[in-house]
Parts: sequence; structure tokens; C-alpha cells
Amino acid sequence: MKRSKVAALLATTEIDREVLVKGWVRTKRGNKFVSFIALNDGSTINNIQLVADAEKFSEDSLREVTTGACIAASGILVASQGKGQTVEIQVNNIEVLGAADPEKYPLQKKGHSLEFLREIAHLRPRTNTFGAVLRMRHAMAFAVHKYFNDHGFYYVHTPIITGSDAEGAGQMFQVTTLDPANPPKTETGEVDYTEDFFGKQTNLTVSGQLEGEVAAMALGQIYTFGPTFRAENSNTTRHLAEFWMIEPEMAFADLTDNMDSAEEFLKFLVMYALNNCKDDLQFLNDMYDKELLNRLNFVVQNSFQRLEYTEAIEILKSAKQKFEFPVEWGTDLQSEHERYLVEKHFKKPVILINYPKHIKAFYMKQNEDGKTVRAMDVLFPGIGEIIGGSQREENYEKLAQRIQEMGIHEEELWWYLELRKFGTAPHAGYGLGFERLMLFVTGMGNIRDVIPFPRFPKSAEF
Ligand code: 4AD
Ligand code: MG
Repeated sequence: MKRSKVAALLATTEIDREVLVKGWVRTKRGNKFVSFIALNDGSTINNIQLVADAEKFSEDSLREVTTGACIAASGILVASQGKGQTVEIQVNNIEVLGAADPEKYPLQKKGHSLEFLREIAHLRPRTNTFGAVLRMRHAMAFAVHKYFNDHGFYYVHTPIITGSDAEGAGQMFQVTTLDPANPPKTETGEVDYTEDFFGKQTNLTVSGQLEGEVAAMALGQIYTFGPTFRAENSNTTRHLAEFWMIEPEMAFADLTDNMDSAEEFLKFLVMYALNNCKDDLQFLNDMYDKELLNRLNFVVQNSFQRLEYTEAIEILKSAKQKFEFPVEWGTDLQSEHERYLVEKHFKKPVILINYPKHIKAFYMKQNEDGKTVRAMDVLFPGIGEIIGGSQREENYEKLAQRIQEMGIHEEELWWYLELRKFGTAPHAGYGLGFERLMLFVTGMGNIRDVIPFPRFPKSAEF
């Protein structure tokens, strides 16, 4: 017999038929006459109830059917007598595929802390919480591809190993096959990277944007969706050393088009979650964050506040609240400032534009004022920055000058500069941090809990 998924059985109206299910035991309870086994197979947050009569199953035959064990069970799908489910299975046969010693299985009891679960990342997907998060992660990834496919964007695979620093921030993990204890040296005593695997120094990418621009200058509208790496020593609930980023890039787009795209895209994603992840969202709303569903609905129903950086500084300076970091025109905004604007002042998502050029990356289009660039950050409640982007500098001279001013190695970026030499065009794009999106749609409080295997300083166990 073919295995049925629990989600399908819980949704079906065809009862009184034989079915086979396979999954992991969540709980077993009962009395002398009958045992009730709650089985989960990952297809839904809900369990199916297996009813095992003592006549058919001696206590001994169910000895290995304990929390965490993997079993296959067959029987008749019937209307349930009890509360909490519409159908259940009157089982005739149970096969234990993999036992889980109750003395040792770490998830024997419910209610573990998220901190503890992080230490058992190989088992935490079997909890309701992480099952919900992982199913939603899948749904959001699918929604990303759906949105761009429906809007005529091409998915481009940009490299993970690169020879350039896309953000110019120098926070990169080096990729090398040289012996760290004994690297080859040049005559002047420096490491000789011509001997390295690629014949030059290489790193894990911090962003696929620069290569994305190459594709946009041929295909018009593209997006990337891949892992990115940052060796910044940020031990916060919003930072990972390895995270996934979605980066659309659009030829013939300016900063307004960029804002319109980002707002529409984010609303589509949140709407997709509301429409397609109902059970998981309800669970997360009830368990962790009673405002979650309200917040998601609010974001899709209201327009984002668009605001100049300069105006934001005025608002922050006249705020009654005391900030840990003082604000002046020219300072980079800290998370406390971003959250003040979003959560206290406007009480809705904010798109901040036209930042001072010295706090932003070299590739952003310079404004006529000589002080600011056409940058755009989208700030979300509870998150702070969820998207960073800009219109790009398409003028060869201006870009080359900025690269020089910022002390960036021009020879690494010759190909990027050539895009401005041959058939340059106005263009814009942005990057959405996938895990920041996941924080928002799940209501989870720590970014380490919305990626299966988080990487952060001093942690890469799994
Ligand atoms: O603002 P960022 O650094 O922008 C870029 O990388 C541009 N190349 C994007 C573009 O224009 N194509 O990063 C973009 C987003 C941030 O807004 C944030 O959501 C996320 O990536 N992000 C991180 N997420 C988790 N951990 C980190 N360490 C992150 N750093 C950035
Ligand atoms: Mg940013």
C-alpha cells in the first residue's frame, strides 16, 4: 500500500478505508484498553491520532512506540470519537522503523527553550516550532521565485567564490588552498597568492549584486537568490555569518521604481504567507507572538512611509526618547533609531532614501548635491533594516572616481567598470535578507531560529 501523508488524511472526506502512514511519534498515552499515539510526518503541524486497542496490541508490543520513535502504521481511517480531530486511524499493524530510547531522547518532554534547541539543531526540526518555521521557509522561497517569474525577471546564479568585495566593507571569509602554517612568500615577504588555487586572493561572496548587474545589462530584469557570507563579528539576534539574500536588479529603473518594486514584492510575500501557511502561522501566533497575524495583515494593507534620510535625522533629533547612540546628520542609523521611526513615530514600515554618501557603498548613484547617494533602506517593525538597495551609478567617470576616493582596488573591478563603458543604462536594485524576512513572517525573535543550521561567531557545529 502507498503511504498517505498526514496532511492529506486530515483534509480528506473519504473515510472508512485502509491507509498506511509513516512518521515520528510525538506522544503516546492511554489505559488498559487502548493506546493513543499522536503521529507527525512533517506534512503539517497537526498530528494524526492512531488508536491501538489492547486486544490487538499488548503493552509489550508497543514498548518501542515511544516519543521520537519512527513507525509505519496501517489501519482504517475513521471519523474520530474524540475532541480535537475529525479523523483517526484504528490501527491493525505497527512496525517500528527506528526506536528512540526514552531514557536518552532529548525531546522526550515538551517545552524546551529555544536556546537548548539550538544545541540540538539535528533534532529540533522535529518540534512543532521548527517544523512550522521550516515549512514556512520553503513557502517563502517558493513565493520569491513565483513573484519574479510572474513579473518577467530571470533567475541568475551568481558565484559564491569571488575575487571582489561587492560591498567594499572588507568583511569577507577567505577561500584558499594554501597551507596557513607555511604559505609561499614573495620576495618582499608577503603571501604569494599567484600560487593559490585561483592564482589570486579569493573570498566567499558578500553579495551577488555586481554579477547581477552584469546580467541585468543584458537580460533587463534579473534576480539572484543564494547564500552570502559576512565575517562581521556581530553577535546579535539580526545577524548571521551565512545568510541567504534575494537581489533583484532592473535595467531602466530609478530610485522610485526601486521603492515601488520593493514594497510590492514584500507585500506579495507576506500575503503569500497569510494565504498558504495558515496552520503554521496560527501556531506561531498562539505560541510566541499574539500580534503576529495582526502585524502581517497591517503590512499588506498599508502603504510604506517614504522618507528622506535628512528628514529622518530631524525627527530623531527632536524625539523625546534618549538614544544610546547620538544622531547627527552624517551618522549611520543604529537599530534603535530605525525602530523608533518605524514602531514609535510612523507606526508602519518606512523606506528611507538619499543617505550621506560616506556611509554607503561605492556603487550607489550620486545625487547632484554632492553629499548624498540614491540609497534606499526598507525598515520593518521588530526587525529594522530588511532591505538595502539603491539606484546604481551608471556614469563611468563618476563611478571610477568614487572607487578611487574610497581606496578600493580598481583592478578587481575592471569588468564592473566596463559595464559603464559599453552600453551603460540607468538601473537599480536591492537585497532582501531572507532570514530577516523569515523573522518577520514567523514572529520568531532570533535569526538563529529561522535557518536550519545557523552560522555565527564561534559556532558551526552542525
Ligand atoms: O544592505 P546590504 O549589505 O546590501 C547589499 O548587500 C546590496 N548588495 C544589496 C543590493 O542592492 N543588491 O544587505 C542587504 C540585506 C540587508 O538589508 C539585510 O536584510 C540582509 O541583507 N543582511 C543580513 N542578514 C543577516 N545577517 C547579516 N549579517 C546580514 N547583513 C545583511
Ligand atoms: Mg544595508
